[in-house]
Amino acid sequence: PDTITVQELANRMSERAVDVIRLLMQQGQMMKINDVLDADTAQLVAEDMGHTVKRVSESDVEVGLEGEADNAADLKPRAPVVTVMGHVDHGKTSLLDALRQTDVVAGEAGGITQHIGAYQVRMAGGERITFLDTPGHEAFTTMRARGAKATDIVILVVAGDDGVMPQTIEAINHAKAAEVPIIVAINKMDKPDVDPNRVRTELLQHEVIVESMSGDVQDVEVSATQKMNLDKLEEAILLQSELLELKANPDRSADGIVIEAQLDKGRGPVATVLVQRGTLRVGDVLVAGTEWGKVRALVNDRGEQVKEAGPSEPVEVLGLNGTPEAGDVFSVVEDEARAREITDYRQRVLRDKRAAGAARGSLEQMFSQL
Ligand code: GTP
Ligand code: MG
Repeated sequence: PDTITVQELANRMSERAVDVIRLLMQQGQMMKINDVLDADTAQLVAEDMGHTVKRVSESDVEVGLEGEADNAADLKPRAPVVTVMGHVDHGKTSLLDALRQTDVVAGEAGGITQHIGAYQVRMAGGERITFLDTPGHEAFTTMRARGAKATDIVILVVAGDDGVMPQTIEAINHAKAAEVPIIVAINKMDKPDVDPNRVRTELLQHEVIVESMSGDVQDVEVSATQKMNLDKLEEAILLQSELLELKANPDRSADGIVIEAQLDKGRGPVATVLVQRGTLRVGDVLVAGTEWGKVRALVNDRGEQVKEAGPSEPVEVLGLNGTPEAGDVFSVVEDEARAREITDYRQRVLRDKRAAGAARGSLEQMFSQL
């Protein structure tokens, strides 16, 4: 459940429901006592009424007020979720491709399967790392703006022959704003004209201080095309991930984030999601942004149909009634009625917002013409 009724919200604040309704009315929202508020609205209302709001956990983006916190005892270690960022042409895609081929299960023949925007690499020791296909800075920003934290670690790719460039700096700023630790991959080390120390010095100016300069940011010299030091990079990721003590409760209804979604000719709406908590199963009723559906099939990053997906696992979801947006939060709800209720509400809010936006636009136009 990622919403709350007016009555429940009032109860939690020990306020009268009528006062909540009055406040909503002042904000232009006509609501009755059993109407549902999304977590963002509920938070705003609560704050307006002088209450402090504590969101249950980082991944509890919209789940907010009603999402139950997990007991520490139920938490199990989970794979780190890693995003590769960096300047144009510094080798993000090449590095992701090369890392993907280190998967011990996929092996040589399995190799590259379909592209699903995220994949998991299994290492010989049984460890796993989830890589998000570089979503572009825009998607990263949208997710962050919504409070959704999709990634645990950022791999900052800097070409050793080019050094720190504008989008390198952008990526640093994104990672810092999101408080996500950085691992630097100095790429293209097979080239003759590389100068990794120049990269380290340039990074220093942006307060990314690597270990050899007495900072705490790990850096690894790699070559994506020559597959050099990929094991070292993966070790660095696992080390960082140990420091973060990443955990999640797999034994609860699932929630997470939509990585990408599109309308597939044959299969209908297909969303690639990253499960962050709980276990997503075929047959679950899922709400994602303003869309919902009953999970008809789950397909993993190797194109295999699976029955379920746990924390940090990326998976394609089939069976949605519409196409959600990248960055949308998803969660499994009790039943279809509940799913309809939530998405109806969200669609209404979205329409109202759009209408308000349009009205504001035309007002601004009016004023600018005066
Ligand atoms: P955009 O997605 O356009 O931002 O680029 P990208 O960062 O994904 O870079 P991409 O992987 O497409 O690589 C850009 C070019 O650099 C390609 O021609 C790659 O073959 C080359 N390249 C990537 N990694 C290496 C490397 O380790 N060594 C050498 N010599 N070339 C590399
Ligand atoms: Mg690329």
